[in-house]
Amino acid sequence: MNQDGMTTSEWLEVLDAMEEVAPYYDRVNQLMTLGLADRWRAEVASRAGVDDTVLEMGSGPGTFARHLNSRHVYCLEPSGRLVQSSKDVLDENRVSLIRGVGESVPLPDGSVDKVFCSFSFRDFKNRGSGAEEMFRVLREGGEVFIADVAKPPPGPMAKLLRMHIHYVVPMVARVAVHSSARMRSRNNPYRKFVETYDAFGFTTVYESLLRNKGFGDVSTEFLRMRGATLTRGKKPCKLTSS
Ligand SMILES: C[S@@+](CC[C@H](N)C(=O)[O-])C[C@H]1O[C@@H](n2cnc3c(N)ncnc32)[C@H](O)[C@@H]1O
Repeated sequence: MNQDGMTTSEWLEVLDAMEEVAPYYDRVNQLMTLGLADRWRAEVASRAGVDDTVLEMGSGPGTFARHLNSRHVYCLEPSGRLVQSSKDVLDENRVSLIRGVGESVPLPDGSVDKVFCSFSFRDFKNRGSGAEEMFRVLREGGEVFIADVAKPPPGPMAKLLRMHIHYVVPMVARVAVHSSARMRSRNNPYRKFVETYDAFGFTTVYESLLRNKGFGDVSTEFLRMRGATLTRGKKPCKLTSS
């Protein structure tokens, strides 16, 4: 696992861990972020307009998509189990669930206005291909938004967050995940969270990747309390010769 992605077997383990933790996912997220996780998601989702056609890549159990109020939302998720569980929380009149991966999106070129990756880009097997697909499916002038756990460059803030992720999160997860699930799992189901956090690089890596794939206006901002970041980019409009 590194800043570009991971091997197939590592990726399958990440997917397994996500499925294992799914029933407790919301609870652990809220506990480990002191209730901020849902506010971050709502803040990010507010970037989509009602008339936008939106694609969320890595929608998991629907935790982010339920905040979107756009008329047409595609939720792309590789795990069949998670697609199934997201049906309970999403409005089937507005949301189309697609089983698939961000590296190969089954949608036509230029078909969406906004792409969102809410705490999922870190889990992609190949982030370069994922960014290419974001660019392809967006219409000209369309925007991508990638939310992830904050990972500041080396310094006191980075040390503090790293300690939180390495020690507090696994402890909270152990308490929040039901004991029967803990018995089934040899390890803490949040172990993969720690691994993907360590591997994904900094937001500057996301920014350069977006620029390399053709996005313009690339920037990153902190979300509330600086525990998460939002990296964005815009697909440029082609210059037309007169
Ligand atoms: C941490 S969950 C995030 C779920 C949701 N977006 C949220 O905000 O809580 C990451 C999700 O990304 C999915 N994922 C992993 N690899 C992916 C890929 N290559 N393409 C799309 N989604 C992927 C996982 O299955 C998982 O459901």
